[in-house]
Amino acid sequence: MRLDRQIAVVTGATSGIGREAAVALAGAGAKVAVNHLASEKDAAEAVVAEISKAGGTAAAFAADVGKEDEVVKMFASVIKSYGTVHILVNNAGIQMDAAFTDMTLAQWQRVLDVNLTGQFLCAREAIREFLRRGMQPDISRALGKIICMSSVHQRIPWAHHANYAASKGGVTLLMQTLAQEFSSRRIRVNSIAPGAIRTHINRAAWETPQALEELEKLIPYGRIGETTDVAEAILWLVSDHSDYVQGSTLYVDGGMMLYPGFKDNG
Ligand code: BGC
Repeated sequence: MRLDRQIAVVTGATSGIGREAAVALAGAGAKVAVNHLASEKDAAEAVVAEISKAGGTAAAFAADVGKEDEVVKMFASVIKSYGTVHILVNNAGIQMDAAFTDMTLAQWQRVLDVNLTGQFLCAREAIREFLRRGMQPDISRALGKIICMSSVHQRIPWAHHANYAASKGGVTLLMQTLAQEFSSRRIRVNSIAPGAIRTHINRAAWETPQALEELEKLIPYGRIGETTDVAEAILWLVSDHSDYVQGSTLYVDGGMMLYPGFKDNG
């Protein structure tokens, strides 16, 4: 699954799924823009160094994806450095959990800003660039590819996480609408919906043996996911091997969506 001569922007690429995606895309030959918050410069440089050491090409680009001026500036500097963009992995996401009656507007707003508005802003800049550049049939069958990082919580309601679940529900229809709007231009837009993947976002759910055992009750396949599980799916979904896949959600969740509570019940 080679991505030679393609330029990929990965948002939130300093840790977790984003970091793994950046490494995997660079390993497949893409030049990777490692997006990070200004405060995460060291972590971003570490990802860039890891990619360079393995023979790949990457550079760090700061932007808070929830801020329009920063996103516009970031895409301009990626295009200045690398010439264009072919792939966007709309990955940056956060949780700010609270019981609903305690949830502050700030907690609601920040999660929506990063997880949903961030995907809107980055997709808009990426698509503007795809359209400006035009087809390069020797590089890819598509004009551009966008992966929207969603979650099983685009479908599974999640108490104490109203902001997060609402943001991922929004991502689903944003993704499908973009796929509908830009199919005729050969822009592919799809989602990946991970289940429980071992990253810092859900550390409390796996860091003790008891917590992990509880978590695994929700996963028919019987193990927590690893970031490599998701990166493999991303590689396929941005490559021409999936050229006819459009407007879809690929669940990478060990079967979490299969309602395991009903196995011996109902
Ligand atoms: C959340 C994780 C959670 C997983 C499964 C993800 O979208 O970010 O915290 O473990 O869904 O519930």
